[in-house]
Amino acid sequence: MSSPPKTFHVKSFGCQMNVYDGERMAELMAADGMTAAADAGSADLVVLNTCHIRERATEKVYSDIGRLRKNARLEGRTAPMIAVAGCVAQAEGEEIVARAKVDVVVGPQAYHNLPRLVADAAAGTPALDTDLARLAKFGRLPARRSVAPSAFLTVQEGCDKFCTYCVVPYTRGAEVSRGFDAIIDEARALVDAGAREITLLGQNVNAWADADGRGLHDLIRVLDRIPGLSRIRYTTSHPNDMAEGLIRAHGEVESLMPFLHLPVQAGADRVLRAMNRHHTRDGYLRLLDRIRAVRPDIALSGDFIVGFPGETEAEFADTLSLVDEVGYAQAFSFKYSPRPGTPAAEISDQIAPEVMDDRLQRLQASLNRDQHAFNRASLGRRCTVLVERRGKLAGQMLGKSPWLQSVHLLTEAPIGALVEVDLIQAGPNSLAGVPVSPAAVAA
Ligand code: 5AD
Ligand code: SF4
Repeated sequence: MSSPPKTFHVKSFGCQMNVYDGERMAELMAADGMTAAADAGSADLVVLNTCHIRERATEKVYSDIGRLRKNARLEGRTAPMIAVAGCVAQAEGEEIVARAKVDVVVGPQAYHNLPRLVADAAAGTPALDTDLARLAKFGRLPARRSVAPSAFLTVQEGCDKFCTYCVVPYTRGAEVSRGFDAIIDEARALVDAGAREITLLGQNVNAWADADGRGLHDLIRVLDRIPGLSRIRYTTSHPNDMAEGLIRAHGEVESLMPFLHLPVQAGADRVLRAMNRHHTRDGYLRLLDRIRAVRPDIALSGDFIVGFPGETEAEFADTLSLVDEVGYAQAFSFKYSPRPGTPAAEISDQIAPEVMDDRLQRLQASLNRDQHAFNRASLGRRCTVLVERRGKLAGQMLGKSPWLQSVHLLTEAPIGALVEVDLIQAGPNSLAGVPVSPAAVAA
């Protein structure tokens, strides 16, 4: 028995869907009467919203729990109640309770039950809920109230693709899509609460579909008509779900931003087959041709894995040459990490860590080069910047270009304003822009 927590802090790791879930958990606990603490160190309840995608992400959970408890001890405070949420909770719930003696474990489909689980834990009952009942949570979360200019909206969860390295189909379950009306209602609420840009989220967001046969592009076309919603994005997509209608939307829907995150993972067909990706290198490149044909300025982004079991130097060179051919505006790259229960973890030919390190460094050098080149190619462009927050320097604001580049605005501007700027400086990670006129700065 302990007294119920009065203050909470949510710490999210991993993907943007976890960021979205973390925000919704915070809203849920605030609606339940708890107050948000400034940081984890001063909260009665810390929710660790975890990621299971790579081993290091998982280990971070245990080191975080240890650190929270140690700091409390050193400062003479009672250790906070700890709730482990997210994909580690789903995959290793019982193990976490055994190994770290946490108070609450709640999976990504069950977090609408968090207040009850916290109350149970405070009353001395162990509280574990990793029910995978799909989409139940969405109907039981409080309304959106105040959000940042750029907001996330989960429209789809889970994955049926079973790439051989990936735990997502096991932790988030099979692909499911939220209903059309629920999504439009939430989008309207987000805009009313201050959002000017919405990023639609899903593990396979472009597989979104409803019972009436509508696809993601239909959803985007309806969202496009919501007054006050200026920008739409979506992430993350599988190449095989890039429907013709969605490609066309990139050429026709003005609020759909010219940016596409389309992971390819590797450049050699043998590796793509071993990964169970169901597409070839050439199929991916031809798909990009079709997208560029309707939207020539589209900024492309991707995910890459180096050191997949059995990857030869020549196969890795195919990844480098694919990167050269595409010219990504930005990308994420990872060393392969064997995940328990996935087929690739059983392959005997695992790659040595120093080989992976070397390949990752070479890949990242290429990706950084291309990102900088993309930014330099943007110099002289006139575009809108959505102002998201203050910059580090006085009088400087930070926002995003249509191509998802960070842009420093060299002037004061209200957060949430869409400012028309000329891009005048380009670095590897950001650009600088000046408003085209003083009037452009108004919210
Ligand atoms: N090891 C390394 N990277 C992985 N990803 C998914 N599973 C693994 C793994 N086992 C990467 C993929 C995916 C991104 C979200 O994480 O590139 O697109
Ligand atoms: Fe994982 Fe592949 Fe599904 Fe992406 S498409 S979530 S990498 S199984």
